[in-house]
Amino acid sequence: MRAMTDTIAVWDRIAAFWDDHIREGNDFQEKLIMPTTDRLLGDVAGQRIIDACCGNGNYARRLAARGAKVTAFDGSGVFIDHARARTGTGTDAEIKYHVIDATDEAALMTLGGGNDDGKEQSPFDAIVCSMAMMDLVTIDPLLRAARRLLCLGGRLVFSVPHPAFNSPRSRSVAEMVSENGRLRQRFAIATDSYLAPYEDLSQGIVNQPEPHPMFHRPIGVLLKSCFDAGFIVDAFEEPAFPEGTSSKSVFSWAKRPDLPPAVVVRLR
Ligand SMILES: C[S@@+](CC[C@H](N)C(=O)[O-])C[C@H]1O[C@@H](n2cnc3c(N)ncnc32)[C@H](O)[C@@H]1O
Repeated sequence: MRAMTDTIAVWDRIAAFWDDHIREGNDFQEKLIMPTTDRLLGDVAGQRIIDACCGNGNYARRLAARGAKVTAFDGSGVFIDHARARTGTGTDAEIKYHVIDATDEAALMTLGGGNDDGKEQSPFDAIVCSMAMMDLVTIDPLLRAARRLLCLGGRLVFSVPHPAFNSPRSRSVAEMVSENGRLRQRFAIATDSYLAPYEDLSQGIVNQPEPHPMFHRPIGVLLKSCFDAGFIVDAFEEPAFPEGTSSKSVFSWAKRPDLPPAVVVRLR
């Protein structure tokens, strides 16, 4: 796959809109991604953790509030400006933010560099990459660097939109069907594109100023990159909105409680 356009430049242009809509966590993050990621990460107090492709840094601040020593980076300098602006004087004041392209392995390895006093730093205990790998034209440099930056047994917890259901070419379907003479609404997902990786334009937030490039990878391709980098999978979750979650839109994932819009994966 190759980038259709300079993806980071697009993120620079839409970062302010995203920051304004997401703030410290939108419904998707707060109900699905963050709690699942918290659980798969486990205890983080006192641990050195990287938030990769951190956006406005909301999960980095959540980690800092739980006592982690956080290094966060994003390819978009505008997103990092927003992250810094949202960072206060409490636990989050210690977060170290960097602008790094996650497709550049050498740049990623600078995260493991020595302290200002020239002393070597200990390796990281964990890395988080929430809802971002699908936005990278290649994920192999990030995975290889992650393997090298982590301590023995260190974990990488990442989430992506569910490749089987929540990809740019899957279609949200709302139908009225008759069952035993009773009309019932049915909400489904239809797709005819899964196995072949593709790049397309997408929007993560309705009406974002312009779409961003997204790179669809079926689960087998996604995990092969993880295995090739030396990881194994030791947790795999498919969070969905619970039955009965209210939503006015027939196209909301809340109407599809049996179809998970994301996967959260733990690698070691
Ligand atoms: C969907 S947002 C997710 C942000 C954040 N992790 C969250 O959960 O809110 C994807 C993020 O990936 C970043 N990104 C895209 N391409 C990147 C690259 N090549 N290197 C680093 N970050 C990149 C974007 O700037 C954006 O912040």
